[in-house]
Amino acid sequence: MAIRFEDIKEHIGSRVVWDDRADIFTPEAAKAIRAKVEERTVVVFPELNLTDAEQLEITNLMGEKVRLTARNNVQSNDADVYQVTLDEKINPQPEYVLGTFFWHMDGITVDMPPPFATLLSCRIAPDKGGETEFASTYAAYEGLSDEEKSELEGMKAVHSVRASLSPIADAIPEKHRERVLGIGLIKEHPLVWTHESGRKSLVIGTTADHVVGLEVPAGRAMLIRLQEWAAQPAFSLRHKWTKGDFVIWDNTGAMHRAIPYDKSTGRMMHRTSIAGTETVAA
Ligand code: OGA
Ligand code: MN
Repeated sequence: MAIRFEDIKEHIGSRVVWDDRADIFTPEAAKAIRAKVEERTVVVFPELNLTDAEQLEITNLMGEKVRLTARNNVQSNDADVYQVTLDEKINPQPEYVLGTFFWHMDGITVDMPPPFATLLSCRIAPDKGGETEFASTYAAYEGLSDEEKSELEGMKAVHSVRASLSPIADAIPEKHRERVLGIGLIKEHPLVWTHESGRKSLVIGTTADHVVGLEVPAGRAMLIRLQEWAAQPAFSLRHKWTKGDFVIWDNTGAMHRAIPYDKSTGRMMHRTSIAGTETVAA
């Protein structure tokens, strides 16, 4: 097969190298890419310059496409590809995109298994800010001590979009604040996800509001510590976008966030998602 992968960092990230661009759009390549996403969490295709049709083709070759906005009662005007932009002329609910500035997993407050993967194609790269960071929640779990691992066993957290957006609630215009904060469902998930593969990852991020059975301050402090642990440089990767870059990541084994950027940069990403096949299980 004519596509190759190069590691980016020790615990996270692969870059795809190809001779013939057409070799990316085959069932064999899709299978290899999916396996690489599972193994390395983040897979980067530098300056691939996909059309929407091509992005949908890769999405469908790799799994079952899912429209996250529809499942999350987000106001959007996407049919197949969601345009990640702060431009309110294109995006009827830009506050949802402001939520991407905070560590999260996609589709964790939705009534379906979390999407396996998110796919982003850079259409307009910002000149300032707007990088995307990924933190491996597999590496974060594996890096815990045995004592810490056993402490987390059986613990659960309650997730909501409201929790994730609470730091910016005051900045959301009052007339649609409640509608934005009310996006998605309130969902309880184990802190440690034991995947069908047997590997374990943390289910964390700013959607995690509190830990079931702990006093709110103790639970929140624990969630913040775990988030900081996962975000440490050894387990995370920051991608600086060049126009045309395409990135696929394992949403079930990573949290991600955008470095803040201004609407005036024109930053524009096209997003698709691949359905998950596993509910979060302890
Ligand atoms: C998303 C998201 C990150 C980014 O679209 O779900 O988190 O960098 N995007 O735009
Ligand atoms: Mn996201």
